Amino acid sequence: MRDLEGKAETKPATIGATPDGATDEQSASRQVRQMFSDIAPRYDLLNHVLSANVDRLWWWQAARTFRPILARPEARVLDLCCGTGDMSFALHKRAGGSGAQILGADFAHPMLVRGKQKDEARGSHLRWLEADALHLPLRDASFDLVTAAFGFRNLANYDAGLREIARVLRPGGECGILDFSEPQGMVGVGYRFYFKYVLPTVGGAISGDRKAYEYLPRSVERFPAPAEMVERMKRAGFARAEWSPYTFGIAGLYRGWK
Ligand SMILES: C[S@@+](CC[C@H](N)C(=O)[O-])C[C@H]1O[C@@H](n2cnc3c(N)ncnc32)[C@H](O)[C@@H]1O
Repeated sequence: MRDLEGKAETKPATIGATPDGATDEQSASRQVRQMFSDIAPRYDLLNHVLSANVDRLWWWQAARTFRPILARPEARVLDLCCGTGDMSFALHKRAGGSGAQILGADFAHPMLVRGKQKDEARGSHLRWLEADALHLPLRDASFDLVTAAFGFRNLANYDAGLREIARVLRPGGECGILDFSEPQGMVGVGYRFYFKYVLPTVGGAISGDRKAYEYLPRSVERFPAPAEMVERMKRAGFARAEWSPYTFGIAGLYRGWK
């Protein structure tokens, strides 16, 4: 990894998200939950403004990947770290009335409340669960597909998160983790400038919480690079894992097969 001046930096040994001041996994989780609870009222607006609506394309593209599973009437799908539900809604739309059951789970209550309000307005009738992705109150081998969009990177322990996903997946089930990545070359330089300077300023001004938008680029820096993440997925119990870049590698989809 290189910083804006081109100096080489060493990526820290990654275990999980560590917001400023967090001393252990519990305090990291608490801070992440509080941060998303605080920004929940402005989350959707900021998402669309800061990504120039490209986020919609990424959810749609990820959901399309899982069309064969979503088309099965008996399919059970868990969308982890669902926030206000946009990935869950994209999965529902792609299922197209097949009967696949979609459950959105998140541990920040205000994010879920907004997700449920959107659900009622759309008449999608999804299911919602307030739960920590690291300790899911769900049975082993009970889902055909587990997704997480822009949430997995916030877990306090990535390996524990992957093991929990593998635990709730049925044999033959799939997981799809959509998250930011650090693109290389000139795109990377522009991306780092935007993430480090523009995003905290604009995000902070609209949300009133600059810290939350300073945390975002740091969390992406700390997140394992795709090759390492794929290895971690295999170690966590996935027979096969791969990563596909989206939009010059600004984001990407990790797929894992149990
Ligand atoms: C950036 S938002 C993404 C929301 C949504 N998936 C999207 O694409 O817009 C990250 C979400 O992950 C949730 N989250 C982070 N860590 C979590 C955990 N350990 N358990 C459950 N939810 C978690 C946060 O509460 C937040 O709603």
